[in-house]
Formats: sequence, C-alpha cells, structure tokens
Amino acid sequence: MSQSRHRTVVVLAAGEGKRMKSALPKVLHPLLGRTLLGHVLAAATPLEPDRTLVVVGHGADRVTAHLTEIAAGAEPVLQAEQLGTGHAVRIALETAPDAAGTVVVLNGDVPLLRPETVAALVATHEAAGAAATVLAAEVADPTGLGRIVRGVDGGLEQIVEERDASAEQRALREINAGIYAFDGALLRAALGKISTDNDQGEEYLTDVFGLLVAAGETVAVHVAPDATETLGCNDRVELAGLRGMLRDRINEGWMRSGVSLLDPATTWIDVTVRLDRDAVVDQNTQLLGATVVGTGATVGPDTTLVDTTVGEGATVLRAHAVGARIGARASVGPYAYLRPEANLLERAKIGTFVEVKKSEIGEGAKVPHLSYVGDATIGARANIGAATIFVNYDGVNKHHTTVGEAAFVGCDTSLVGPVEVGAGAYIAAGSAITSDVPPGALGVTRAEQRNIEGWVERRRPGTRSAAAAERARQALAGASEGEALHEASDGSGPGPTPRDTATE
Ligand code: UD1
Ligand code: CA
Repeated sequence: MSQSRHRTVVVLAAGEGKRMKSALPKVLHPLLGRTLLGHVLAAATPLEPDRTLVVVGHGADRVTAHLTEIAAGAEPVLQAEQLGTGHAVRIALETAPDAAGTVVVLNGDVPLLRPETVAALVATHEAAGAAATVLAAEVADPTGLGRIVRGVDGGLEQIVEERDASAEQRALREINAGIYAFDGALLRAALGKISTDNDQGEEYLTDVFGLLVAAGETVAVHVAPDATETLGCNDRVELAGLRGMLRDRINEGWMRSGVSLLDPATTWIDVTVRLDRDAVVDQNTQLLGATVVGTGATVGPDTTLVDTTVGEGATVLRAHAVGARIGARASVGPYAYLRPEANLLERAKIGTFVEVKKSEIGEGAKVPHLSYVGDATIGARANIGAATIFVNYDGVNKHHTTVGEAAFVGCDTSLVGPVEVGAGAYIAAGSAITSDVPPGALGVTRAEQRNIEGWVERRRPGTRSAAAAERARQALAGASEGEALHEASDGSGPGPTPRDTATE
C-alpha cells in the first residue's frame, strides 16, 4: 500500500465477551496460531499505519501484556467503562490528537478478516475521498448484527442496530461487519455529536454514518467478497465454527501451493506454519507455532509438531515434538517424543518409544528403540541399542554425555553423565557406564553369569515354570540317550540296548 498516506488503526478490544463464560478476555482466545486479537492486528499490518491503538478494558492487564509480546508497536488505550463503540473510538483518538488522514477501525473479534479485504476497503475509501466507508456483507442469518440501510439510490443512509431496528429493517440481510475507514477529522467531529439515545444507552460508532449523511458527506459501502470473513465470535460454539472455517482456508491454501494433505478434515495447521512443496501430511496431524516442514517430507498420521523444523525428505510418523529440529532425510517414530533442543542431523533415526531432549543426534546415527536421550551429543553413525538410558540427572544437576562417531552401545545400557564414550568404542549390553570409554575400547560393567542348576524345581515346585522345566529336561535327556543309541548302533562302542532306551 502507498506509504504517503497517513493512517491510524484503532482496534476495539475492551469488551468482556460475556457469552464466552471465560476467565480469559475474549480477544485472547487462541485460534490456529494467533489470538483473535492477533488475527485482527495481522489483517491491519499491511496498512503500515503511523500508529495502532488498541482499546482495552476487561482484562486490560492481560491484553496489554499480550500486545507487548505480539505487537510491540501497538499502544493500549484504557477504556475503563465500556460505554459503547463510539465512546471507545473517541477515547482512542483523544490519545492521538495529531492523527491525520485515514482512521481504520476494526472490531477485535473478527479473526477471519483477510489483510487483502482490509486493504481493499481502505483503497476504496481513499480513492473515493469518502468521509466514511463500512465493510458490509450479505449473510443468510443476520441475527444480532447491525443492518446496512440503503436509500432509493442504493447509497448508505444509516446503520441500525438490530435492537433499535424496525421490522422492515430487521428483514435486511446486509450487515455491518464492524470494520471501517474514516476521514480522521470528520470522524473526530462526528464522534462529538453522537447521542446515547438508543436501546442500550451507549455511544454507537455506527451513528457516525447517519450524522455524516445528514451533513451531506460522502459515505460508502465496501462489500466483502467472502461473507465468512466478517463473522464475529460471541461464544465458544461460534469460535469452534470459525476454527473449522479457518482450518479449511489454510488447508486449501497449502494444497493449492503443492502440499499433499491426505485428510484435510483432521489436519490442523496454524497460520504461522510453513510447508514446502511436495510435503505430505497424513491424517490426524497438528502443525503448530513456528513449525516448518521441508520439501518432500512426510508427517503423520497422528503427529503433533510444535515449533519444530522438519528437513527435506524426512519422515515423522506418530510422533509428538516440541521445539525440535529434524534433519533432512531423518526418520522419527512411530511413537517418539522429541522435546526442546532435540536436534537430529541428516539421516538420523529416532525410533519407537524413544524420548529425546536437548541432544544432538549425529548424521546417520540411530536410536531405534525404547530409549531416553537427554543432554547428549551422539556422533555420526553411532548405534544406540534398545533400552539405552542417558542418565543425565543426579537429582540436583543435569550432566552431559558424549558418544563418539560410529560407537556401538549395546542394549540396556545406562550412560551415567558426565561421561564420554570414544569414537568407535563398543559398550557391552547391560552395562552401567560411569567412567569414560576410550576410542575403540569395549566398555563392560557386567557381573559374570552363573546358573544354579535345578533351582526352579527345588524352590518353586508345583509352578507351571517347574513343570515346563521338568518336561524340557526329560526331552533333553531323551534326546541325548537317542544320540547315544545312534552312536552305539554304528558299532563304534558299547551303549544301551534299544529296549533300555524305549523303557526309560
Ligand atoms: C457492533 C456494531 C454492529 C456490527 C457488529 C459486528 C455498534 C454499535 N454495533 O455490534 O453494527 O454489526 O459490531 O460484529 O458498533 N467494544 C469496546 N468498547 C465498548 C464497546 C465495545 O471496546 O465500549 C469492543 C468490543 O470488545 C468488540 C467490539 O467493540 O470487540 C464490538 O463491540 P460489541 O459489543 O461486540 O458490538 P456488537 O453489539 O457486536
Ligand atoms: Ca460483537
């Protein structure tokens, strides 16, 4: 948009949203990667306003804190009492006495609004040199919304709230979306004149339109190309409805840009996520936050990725990852849990029932089964056997473990940090490694095995184990006598007679 224009954005977000029945202010409810307020601010960002004023009231502290996080340039303006949308804009403009040019006002609870639509509204307004322009939409059910009342020439006459409307006006299906562009000076003057003579005893911003028409000013209506963009959100049922619509919009966008979504109805992608071409997302998958999925990678089914990067050609199957980096052609899952700072390099493999936290898994290294890897560096092409635990926590401090390139760690090993296993070293299965293993050495901490013959039959008589042991011993004895017989019959030496064997 042209930058020569001066613009001020005012977002109305002081209302409580009673019907949400929530401790959280309505505009802070989340919707696929942003709060409701975050979506509205994002829609206004391309206008490049001089100032963005956000009118806060209910939950002002929380809304203000949220603004600091998501839009440092936006300024909260406190409206201590919610005396109407006109009052809210009046208070906002009092804090911006120098604001010239266009004032764009947006309700804080219209999250599906597209930036293109706001831009088109403002462009229409500025090109026409209008005093005020309202975004309107034709809807099937206008219940509860303000109606656009047009005169015989088709021009806007006034905006009337449903509760103040005549039966004839209520039948109108063209509604006010709560998004407007105004000439700043004319808006300021008109706001000084609006009354509270209405069903709610509030200062209605919408009354500005009737006043400007009466004063002979030009007002315009910009009709939204897609009425769903203008939907507000008053309760959690409506919020769920908006979430479904936004999901469909996001999913359609990705499919059209070359991403395969195998089951869009069960795929939830935040607006903040990026997917590259030929990525494949299988069913029941959530891609959230700052997640990025690279070219040709496959994610899902049954996978949740939060703030996670998936490299080109990687495979992530039935996994949950938060703040992880999965390298190109790496493989994760099924059933893996990657926690913050899990960093898998190219072609690394994290298999089934494996949890990884704050660890680098080297190129082509494998942790295939049943392991915990925490605070570790695993070298390229190392192989970590099933049920290996990186013992990183002594109850007070966390300790690091390093496993060198192409090391081979046997199954059921505990690596008690801080410890280092050298490049190419082997660890015998079942070891508890507490001191460093030099490159190429075999680390082993096992006690030697001893078998106590006949223990089960003596100490666990009558159990099914004892019975099985008894049967197995008899079978073994039978087999060894059969062998003996065979040896005897070839004439090489004395042995039991056939009858002896048979009757044994
Ligand atoms: C408003 C419009 C209505 C339009 C509808 C679209 C008016 C009088 N009516 O009605 O024509 O169809 O939006 O959704 O404007 N707010 C404040 N301070 C206040 C009052 C409201 O900040 O004193 C904020 C609310 O938090 C909300 C927005 O303004 O974000 C709209 O207020 P709301 O009470 O929801 O207005 P509606 O009755 O929906
Ligand atoms: Ca509303």
